[in-house]
Amino acid sequence: MERLQKVIANSGYCSRRKAEELITKGKVYVNGELVKELGTKVSDKDIIVVDGVTINKEIRKEYYLLNKPRGYICSVSDDKGRKVVTDLIETTERIYPVGRLDYDTTGLLILTNDGDFANILMHPSNEVEKTYLAVIEGILTTEEIYALKEGIVIDGVKVIPKRIKIKSKDINKNREKVIITIVEGRNHIVKKIFESIGHPVNKLHREKYAFLDVKGLQSGDYRYLTNEEVSKLKALKKRK
Ligand code: URA
Repeated sequence: MERLQKVIANSGYCSRRKAEELITKGKVYVNGELVKELGTKVSDKDIIVVDGVTINKEIRKEYYLLNKPRGYICSVSDDKGRKVVTDLIETTERIYPVGRLDYDTTGLLILTNDGDFANILMHPSNEVEKTYLAVIEGILTTEEIYALKEGIVIDGVKVIPKRIKIKSKDINKNREKVIITIVEGRNHIVKKIFESIGHPVNKLHREKYAFLDVKGLQSGDYRYLTNEEVSKLKALKKRK
């Protein structure tokens, strides 16, 4: 017996968090009966229907690494009709992005239909490192670099970058390229960090995710993760 939200997430229908939301909103039926309890346990034989779709419990797990172009949102659909990252990947499985890159952010994005795998990568306690190249307005002073290294409080929570490095500065254009590595996954976090010290981000590109990079992939291209890469990413789960 497994928890209902886990079975839904494992089927690739959506993330576990989304599954919990769907259950509490009354969108999930088990053997024809409405279930709104999050702890409900189900077996292999139970028929689960989410929002009118019967969950297939025997689907193949898929794992992709995409070099996201700008102009795509990290979602599986958009009510405003904007392009979504899943449009870029040819598959019949219901894959979804692991975490979020902004509409105008480019770079490394993982997509999967494996809910447990996505949870490992997104859970803050596993501290998965993400490295961004940010083009910022203005030139950072020594004091500002020091403040960044010490940590910046964003929405009440301090973010201490793992690493920060100035890649290049353009005094004439008054802008700087900065490489920053963080374990944080909050939305817009890199833009908020630099904005909070008076240096808005003009361009943002995710260069690395854990040990992965986008080398060899043109913008908009993707590849499968190898079995070894998937195992290494799963191994990032910290023991309790
Ligand atoms: N931080 C941001 O500000 N934007 C992204 O897309 C990712 C991290």
